[in-house]
Amino acid sequence: MRTLITNGTIVTAEGSSEADMLIDGETIAHIGRDLAGAGMAADETIDAAGRYVIPGAIDVHTHMELPFGGTFAKDTFETGTRAAAFGGTTTIVDFAVQTRGRSLREGLDAWHAKAEGKAVADYGFHMIMSDVNDDTLAEMDHLVAEGVPDFKLFTAYPGVFYSDDGAIFRAMQQTAKNGGLIMMHAENGMAIDVVAADLVSAGKTDPYYHGVARYPIFEGEATNRVIRLAEAAGVPVYIVHLSARDALDELRAARDRGAMAFAETCPQYLFLSLDDMKDGFEGAKYICSPPLRPADHQEELWRGLVKDDLQVVSTDHCPFDFEGQKELGRDDFRKVPNGLPGVEDRVDLLHDGGVVGGRLSRERWVEVISTAPAKLFGMYPRKGAVAVGSDADLVVYDPNRTRTISARTHHMDVDYSCYEGREVQGASDVVLSRGAVIVRDGEFTGRPGHGQFIKRSTADVARMG
Ligand code: URP
Ligand code: ZN
Ligand code: ZN
Repeated sequence: MRTLITNGTIVTAEGSSEADMLIDGETIAHIGRDLAGAGMAADETIDAAGRYVIPGAIDVHTHMELPFGGTFAKDTFETGTRAAAFGGTTTIVDFAVQTRGRSLREGLDAWHAKAEGKAVADYGFHMIMSDVNDDTLAEMDHLVAEGVPDFKLFTAYPGVFYSDDGAIFRAMQQTAKNGGLIMMHAENGMAIDVVAADLVSAGKTDPYYHGVARYPIFEGEATNRVIRLAEAAGVPVYIVHLSARDALDELRAARDRGAMAFAETCPQYLFLSLDDMKDGFEGAKYICSPPLRPADHQEELWRGLVKDDLQVVSTDHCPFDFEGQKELGRDDFRKVPNGLPGVEDRVDLLHDGGVVGGRLSRERWVEVISTAPAKLFGMYPRKGAVAVGSDADLVVYDPNRTRTISARTHHMDVDYSCYEGREVQGASDVVLSRGAVIVRDGEFTGRPGHGQFIKRSTADVARMG
């Protein structure tokens, strides 16, 4: 199958140009002006006039079917990658989970089973490490070799995913040897639990107090601590879902002194705030960790993206229905499963708030949603690029079309939207995954099982300049 995309503006992290593109099979074969005039025939031509052609977006932080708080995140690999595709995201990297007392292998096999034959777009895995011991440390080397080179550890969630500093440092020492990357959920979970227990004892059980208990300073402290541990081990570290100015200050200081510290933020921290949690139990819709912050943190995060203190925007997509799932915590915010839906909306929110809002150039928008995650997570230039030989994961993107976000029209399998009623400018018209059109003008044209496991290489920190 050969497809021509004509008359579009190709936007990459490096720049923009008017050019056509020929896709042959699963990859990009030619880029140039008037390819049809130059005699290049195709089975199908997509006219991208007035629109951008961008590399398919990459979301390196999703949780399909994550077990949390006695329930499971609702999207499967089928519904989740389908929703992602509607929003212009053609690759996700999801977190496989090691159950305490079991092997990493068992956890990884379980995640392969969830995804294989179901995903409609490509996917990779990181590994959540719940136990650090001689056996799991040895297993890390095997996973790196199998294309799962990143390991998430937590200074939060005591009794669930929490690791102490010694365990984190041992895992970092191992990645110093095997080239893997440690991803850190950096909040001081022990201190948070003390504050949360005090609030509940005082009768403050509403969802809003989830946001109150998790002080920004607890995120700043843990961010500094894990970066310092990584510096001591001589390895890069990646901070996930950075939400607070306090953490950004620590990250910036570390990068200024030359530390190999990288981080993502998420749309919820750029667009939502602690005020959204104030509406009684409705606030449970916004319970995630780290929590939403006071609104004055938002502009600092945008500035972090502009200045490359923050390299990536991912979603931390972890959807729980309001009815029946978030409701598990009606009497105590600590029992509300943590996580928000978002995989479908990231690209448009960032275009609207970033490019249309005058904060990001369109090239930087492409960089934070696609190219930087591809580089940091060992997929570049197969993914995250518009280049001859790259996978034809492409989005024909209309920067002028507006749409209104709503649970009534979204494709995520969850009964609410955090952005209900918000109008955004910019939308994906045609989405291709390895040369196949999987979404066209609001219709799904892909199939479960099209998505393939992407065996990734180790983090290409050198490319992050
Ligand atoms: O609230 C969140 N972020 N839920 C997903 C688990 C995690 O910590 O990433
Ligand atoms: Zn986390
Ligand atoms: Zn997460």
